[in-house]
Amino acid sequence: MSEEQTIGPRSRVPRHPTYPKLRQEIAGVDVASLAREFGTPTFVYDGARIVERIEDLRAFDVVRYAQKACSNIAILDLCRRHGALVDATSAGELHRALAAGYEAAGHPPPIVYTADVFDAESLDMVIANGVHVNCGSPDMIDQYGRRVPGGEITLRLNPGFGHGHSRKTNTGGEQSKHGVWHEQLTEAVERARRYDLTVSGLHVHIGSGSDLEHLSGVCGALERLVHEAGESIGTISAGGGLPIPYREDEAYMDVEAYYALWDETRKRLERALGHRLTLEIEPGRYLTAESGYLVTEIRAVKTMGSNTFYLVDAGFNNLARPVLYGAYHPISIASTSGDGSDRSTREVIVGGALCESGDIFTQEEGGVVRAQTLLEAHVGDLLVIECAGAYGSVMGSNYNSKPMAAEVLVRDRTPYLVRSRQTLDQLISNETIPELG
Ligand code: LLP
Repeated sequence: MSEEQTIGPRSRVPRHPTYPKLRQEIAGVDVASLAREFGTPTFVYDGARIVERIEDLRAFDVVRYAQKACSNIAILDLCRRHGALVDATSAGELHRALAAGYEAAGHPPPIVYTADVFDAESLDMVIANGVHVNCGSPDMIDQYGRRVPGGEITLRLNPGFGHGHSRKTNTGGEQSKHGVWHEQLTEAVERARRYDLTVSGLHVHIGSGSDLEHLSGVCGALERLVHEAGESIGTISAGGGLPIPYREDEAYMDVEAYYALWDETRKRLERALGHRLTLEIEPGRYLTAESGYLVTEIRAVKTMGSNTFYLVDAGFNNLARPVLYGAYHPISIASTSGDGSDRSTREVIVGGALCESGDIFTQEEGGVVRAQTLLEAHVGDLLVIECAGAYGSVMGSNYNSKPMAAEVLVRDRTPYLVRSRQTLDQLISNETIPELG
């Protein structure tokens, strides 16, 4: 953190979430009926929660949703209708943003392409559609400048430090591949000038699942960098990285205190530059994590020595966060026989259906299996993995030839199928057997 900025005086009483052990309803819809209608495994999203989270951040001039967290076009459409703009990091994400009704260009840009590389397709696509680009490498400046001389870009900077919930989600510092290195800012601005490109904004994203203290340190760093880049800067972006509490003993981040720090930074810069600055924030997880529930069915209950396992019909092909980062997710049970109120608790390891021993939803970083206190449950009961709306479905795969799960969006107690379960024929539809002589 920089010396002149403190979070203390503004911090309010921390708020904590509650995660029930028994969950018969999601957003007012019976879990068992969702499973009957849409099958399992299915991601169910509570749209109201996403809208609430966008509202939390309304003080920022622009809430730009980092769609990498959950890019179903129905979710993008919901964000768009509630005033969030969008970030894209690939041709596919650009395609999704356009399909969800975002205009390609405008002020502020409805879609921003932020990446460290252009592949041929994404470069062609941003140019064809006039999408704003936020360059994370000097090579991107060259590649864009050659094609669009006289254009406008922003720069994603690596401030020399970073922080995330895991080493794999820290995006700052010398170990990170992300952004233009902060000491090369002047050089990057000069490089842009060679193509007559205006650098109209600076952006910093230090990592995902960070915390208020580390995120606040970005204000000071960006302030110094804006002074260095000079008068052309009209937009500053705080990036994403806002955490959510995956455990009941973790508190919600004080987003008002965070906004206040950024607003002070922005105002100081406005005085120094003599013009208005647009302040953006670019959250992914914060908007969608809590809205999502992965509804699975318990297909086997077995004991291994002293351990009890519930084995469900989802796997790390559906939710990779535990196997990748040792991430913790709250888990609840939806009873399919009775209201479940008489169930006692037990220590359980939850495993998936994949033929790989790492396919465990209750594990710590490094693959250490850990039991979680869940309700007693039987084959045929439903098991709900909570806070699965961010980096859940989007990181899904077809490993073990498992079809991609269905996705359902609940609005006003009505569930809408927004992605049908992949069929077995779709699974092999891009494959061919060569006709060999
Ligand atoms: N902006 C940029 C440039 C990013 O790279 C990211 C995330 C975000 C915004 C949004 O970050 P968020 O607000 O969601 O923390 N798969 C990991 C997270 C990877 C994040 C990648 N970039 C996970 O499951 O925790």
